[in-house]
Amino acid sequence: MLYNHLMPKTRTQYICQQCGRVSAREMGRCPQCGAWNSMVEEVVAITPPPAAAHATRGLGASSTPRRLSEITGDAEERMPVSIGEFARVLGGGVVPGSVVLIGGDPGIGKSTLLLQVALEMARNSTVLYVSGEESERQIKMRALRLLRAEGQARSDDETALSIPENLLLVTETNLGVILGHIQQAKPGLLILDSVQTTYIQELDSSAGSVSQVRESASRLRELAKATGIAVFLIGHVTKEGAIAGPRILEHIVDTVLYLEGDRFQSYRLLRSVKNRFGATSEVGVFEMRERGLIEVTNPSEAFLAERMVNAPGSAIAVTMEGTRPILVEIQGLTSPTSFGNPRRTPNGLDFNRLLLTTAVLTRRLGLHLGEQDIFVNVIGGITIDEPAADLAMAVAIASSLRGQAVRADTVLIGEVGLSGELRMVGQMPARLREAAKLGFRSAIVPRRLRRLEPWPDDIQIVEARSLRQALDHALLGDNPTEGGG
Ligand code: TYD
Ligand code: MG
Repeated sequence: MLYNHLMPKTRTQYICQQCGRVSAREMGRCPQCGAWNSMVEEVVAITPPPAAAHATRGLGASSTPRRLSEITGDAEERMPVSIGEFARVLGGGVVPGSVVLIGGDPGIGKSTLLLQVALEMARNSTVLYVSGEESERQIKMRALRLLRAEGQARSDDETALSIPENLLLVTETNLGVILGHIQQAKPGLLILDSVQTTYIQELDSSAGSVSQVRESASRLRELAKATGIAVFLIGHVTKEGAIAGPRILEHIVDTVLYLEGDRFQSYRLLRSVKNRFGATSEVGVFEMRERGLIEVTNPSEAFLAERMVNAPGSAIAVTMEGTRPILVEIQGLTSPTSFGNPRRTPNGLDFNRLLLTTAVLTRRLGLHLGEQDIFVNVIGGITIDEPAADLAMAVAIASSLRGQAVRADTVLIGEVGLSGELRMVGQMPARLREAAKLGFRSAIVPRRLRRLEPWPDDIQIVEARSLRQALDHALLGDNPTEGGG
């Protein structure tokens, strides 16, 4: 199209699907990330010199240095988003001219979330939703479903549902054509679903390949910066766990959000892993329902809703998701091994932390776990990767083995060390405040060595030096209901 006169000039290169490393010759192993057989052949057009590229993309604006003191911009303007959990993760509203990448496994709810965002944002500005994944009809059906009242059956007067006038939809995968649509529609927000289905005609490689994805994203970034259009890119996470061959987009965009969750459970976490305009590791919690993703404004309450009080094998941990403390129930179950080696099966917790905790319970506290299968589970489908949940995990296992319940009004916070000692974890005051807010009366925590920050006084604090002491406080008296250890 634009560079047709350059078309015959191509070259072959090899590019790593994992890390994006480019090499002129074929290699069995990527010299950068060490992945085997990840280098794939690509035929790429030799791109015109930067100056020409700049001009043809219509960015014209030449740069001039300005005095920093003269640049206005005390608080950058943001477009408000009424979906609070989404806005939180962005660090406020949508920043005009920013590029946000939303990644996640296929089927996790990316299209659903962004269509909801589109429906909301279109009330204040023009939104162009470009889909290369679904048909117009499919998207219309989804929009109607999202707008329908909860529980309401399909009605005949679907027309009564208010789809905002300013929401434009197009199914297109050719980036050149998409840019044309943008020029016509002049949206305030562009949503591209997905970056992997979009292709640039001048490049010979196929849609979804590293060079296509990277180049599409860069061109959209230039467009965003030059025009002030905010761009949301949807990206599928590949088997290896990162978007379109890891890391290749993360440095191009301003913000990277991941939508995570267990596909068979209804909770979804929207996590920010990079954000030029807000705090990273901020988390929004949603629940996938019949009417799309519904905000969960009090996740602790939601995660504890189905808890069985006074049942052995259940303990409450307080984990930090970004700056936000969340209370979660951790369940432990021990069951005599019937065949072969005892099994250790964590769900939502780290396997090695389970092994370590089990070893400490066996060696330091003398629990007979050698012939027990152990299962631990975080309720709600969330994943905890911080050691602060060690204590709750250990207590849940011991509680199950001994058939003694854990005090129902108590939370457990702390890392377990190899000698069976309890170690302090970060952000204690925030964790304790959240527990107190939800009505927990006491917290078993590691002993404080330094008193730097005041802890809340509306929750009773039990400081334990070791896992053994913590267990003595946590388990309810001698009323074993079954089994014994
Ligand atoms: P989708 O947004 O298509 O996922 P992605 O774009 O990440 O691939 O969501 C897919 C799942 O969400 C699908 O299994 C159906 C479910 N879903 C609901 O449960 N409720 C809803 O209102 C919608 C629209 C989808
Ligand atoms: Mg989708």
